Amino acid sequence: MSRREDPREVLRRLYGDEHGYGLRPDEDAEVMATGSSSTYGEIMPTAAARLVELLRLGPGDAFFDLGSGIGKVVLQVAMSAAVDQCVGIELVPSRHRIARRMLARLRPTGLLRASTVSFRRADFMRARLGPATVVYTCSTAFSTPFMNELAARLARLRPGLRWVSTQDLDDNDWFRLETIHRLDMSWRRRSKVHVYRLVRSRHRSLH
Ligand SMILES: C[S@@+](CC[C@H](N)C(=O)[O-])C[C@H]1O[C@@H](n2cnc3c(N)ncnc32)[C@H](O)[C@@H]1O
Repeated sequence: MSRREDPREVLRRLYGDEHGYGLRPDEDAEVMATGSSSTYGEIMPTAAARLVELLRLGPGDAFFDLGSGIGKVVLQVAMSAAVDQCVGIELVPSRHRIARRMLARLRPTGLLRASTVSFRRADFMRARLGPATVVYTCSTAFSTPFMNELAARLARLRPGLRWVSTQDLDDNDWFRLETIHRLDMSWRRRSKVHVYRLVRSRHRSLH
């Protein structure tokens, strides 16, 4: 793999036939117990490239994918932008293992531009999110009560945080909608992707 390769092409070769669809019943049950959804779906690679451009990610940013599946978004961001941190948090062990394996194969290529890249197997409602400047959730299948709980949790992070969500939020005291992009997802073309800004923090550390 050469340094100038298109991250989309690198990911296509790296993942081959690996995918995140299909779960064991116990994996499904573990996700459902958190109140969220184990439904799988991905942003398309060209749409992810566009999202990186639109967000103008770079030094000073810490990008967190909450529910990172098999890790494609995290690795694409990490190859495309010189962010300080790129973190994926995923509860399902089989998905998390694929993400870790792909990261291990990508590291020696020198294609990662992010200073640090990591995957954690955890419930993102309990994980440490302190340094995040941009949070991404492919959250279309999450219930409204769960999204409200997540909003209350993310509102404890630093003001200025951007939350990129495939589902819109109920009105709340903390997040202001900045923009809506139309990007292709694995389940729908030109799907709405909302970018919210944390304008009023709840000021309690998540460390
Ligand atoms: C729609 S998929 C998105 C995958 C990836 N972000 C992408 O866009 O390619 C959502 C993922 O969130 C995970 N998930 C759901 N609830 C979670 C939780 N509480 N903690 C960690 N992961 C969770 C699911 O297992 C699933 O893999």
